[in-house]
Amino acid sequence: MLFSCSNYKILPDIIQLLPDNIANQIAAGEVIQRPASAVKELLENAVDAGADEIKLVVNDAGKALVQVIDNGKGMSETDARMAFERHATSKIRNIDDLFHIKTMGFRGEALASIAAVAQVELKTKRAEDETGVYIQIENSVVKVQEPVAANTGSSIAMKNLFFNVPARRNFLKSNAAELRHIVDEFIRVAMAFPEIFFSLSSNGQEVFHLEKGTLKQRIVQILGNSYNAKLVSVQEQTDYMNIFGFVGKPETAKKTRGDQYFFVNNRFIKSAYLNHAVMNAFDDMIAKDSFPMYALFIDLNPEHLDINVHPTKQEIKFEDEKIVYAFVQSAVKHALAQFSITPTLDFELDASIQQLDAVSKPVSDEKKSSTASSSLYHTFSQKNQAHFIENKSELRHWKDFYEPASNENQQAIQPGNYNVQPTIHEQQPVGDQPVHGNELLQLHNTYIIVQNDKGYLLINQQNAHERILYEKFMLAMDGKAVATQQSLFPVTIELAPADAVLLSELVSDLQVLGYQLEPFGKNTFVIQGTPADVGQGNEKTAIEKMLEQYKHFSNDMKFSKREKITRSLSMQQAIKPGTILTQKEMHALTDELFACKIPNTTANGKPTYMAFKKEELDKMFGR
Ligand SMILES: Nc1ncnc2c1ncn2[C@@H]1O[C@H](COP(=O)(O)OP(=O)(O)O)[C@@H](O)[C@H]1O
Ligand SMILES: [Mg+2]
Repeated sequence: MLFSCSNYKILPDIIQLLPDNIANQIAAGEVIQRPASAVKELLENAVDAGADEIKLVVNDAGKALVQVIDNGKGMSETDARMAFERHATSKIRNIDDLFHIKTMGFRGEALASIAAVAQVELKTKRAEDETGVYIQIENSVVKVQEPVAANTGSSIAMKNLFFNVPARRNFLKSNAAELRHIVDEFIRVAMAFPEIFFSLSSNGQEVFHLEKGTLKQRIVQILGNSYNAKLVSVQEQTDYMNIFGFVGKPETAKKTRGDQYFFVNNRFIKSAYLNHAVMNAFDDMIAKDSFPMYALFIDLNPEHLDINVHPTKQEIKFEDEKIVYAFVQSAVKHALAQFSITPTLDFELDASIQQLDAVSKPVSDEKKSSTASSSLYHTFSQKNQAHFIENKSELRHWKDFYEPASNENQQAIQPGNYNVQPTIHEQQPVGDQPVHGNELLQLHNTYIIVQNDKGYLLINQQNAHERILYEKFMLAMDGKAVATQQSLFPVTIELAPADAVLLSELVSDLQVLGYQLEPFGKNTFVIQGTPADVGQGNEKTAIEKMLEQYKHFSNDMKFSKREKITRSLSMQQAIKPGTILTQKEMHALTDELFACKIPNTTANGKPTYMAFKKEELDKMFGR
């Protein structure tokens, strides 16, 4: 030994190249995060291949299988093999091509990524070839390659995603959530290519079947018939850019952002900036917290764009954002004005629009003066009206004011006797029916006044009913049996495909809540009974509104699925203002409200009643 220094050791070099399959797995993380990422990549490849018929098949929300079958141009044997190499692409040759891209793909990463994290089977044939080729590849290793009889086009199946990366597999969400991501990606591609036939089957059931047609037809096929005759065409052309597409009439605006699509050169993009431009164009035509539908296509020279910003390419950089913003805004404004839809707004239909009407429309002078002369106006505009209302902390002591009706009375009234159907009730003339205990008074067909010798409560019937339903549904979720009322005739409802996917997720919970609801084939459900507490008639609208409300809560991580359903249903099913209630119904409503665990607010924290103490009233009058 030349050196005797004991603490000196020769350390080996430590840097090594990663084996290809591991490098690929790491790189794949950028491109394939979940089954829906593969859906997007495979659908885009099929579009790029010039197919006019593209079928998507998924099993187990894409976790077991994502397969795309197209009738595009197919691949040669060599290309089929090459396609799985990283950075292998037929779509660009040099860096300049990046700025003239006409295809959806260009990175040459998708198939390599998929092959690194799943088992892949490719079957493909070009029109000019007699036989096709079959390739089976997993973990980036080719297992089988052989000739096969095939139709012209390609079929690529991705099986058991992340079978070799268990940590990633564990990160996948529930089937319901993953399926929703898949539907989103499917819609984004299908919307942009109405000239291509698309279908989507999930676990053997066809969810979408989109015949070739116009953009307008495609929008209605995807988003549902409710948009039929409710779309306004947007179309402007300049030398710099073109825009075309549709916006929904203001009355179709929803509480959720769901139905909003921007495409730049036929590529779906997310842009809060351009969304703002559209919202600005709608201005005060829609309520502040609602979202108009739009599907807008902006075409401009790719030289003015950089689509290379993000691997999944949903973000985009414009050379001049401000021009695009101004253009989008004025195009939409112009379209809305041209179709002069403002006067056709139906304010009776939607409470939120009604509210908007009251808030944002200046009251005419005439109306103002007539209101001002009414005594009610004077009462409510008095400076000290704030004293009139108890402060909130005292509301808890509702028991001070309210003593439930006598036992005899409670027995006479079946819970849930009030009905949500405004039309079938007639106001009982006062004194027509002897009422045990207090006579209740309904104000504006919206409020109920309950008095006793300590003062009175002003109950908001909608909020009160919402609280009652919420607690009942919560109990039902915990296993308390719920009464169902059979429908006289079964009602079938057909939903937009994406809503049908969502409703299928909720069916079992809705059954627990007393709905007799079953899937009934394609996007259709049959309702044979509803919870005894909710009214019948209009089941379709009720379900659609419930779904809408549910989606509204969907982004709210703090609510569980059950909480979301319970809240949505109770909000949608509560009796509305303007519903005339009988004495019996008002009594039932008040009794049930004060039998609730938390009677004083709705689940969302809106007060259900205000309490007015007699002694406060006396004080106000100097007594
Ligand atoms: N469905 C298909 N039909 C024909 N060719 C395809 C198909 N899918 C992929 N390819 C070929 O495989 C190549 C690699 O695909 P991909 O990894 O998605 O990269 P990119 O789409 O960015 O080029 C494509 O450039 C194309 O030539
Ligand atoms: Mg691709």
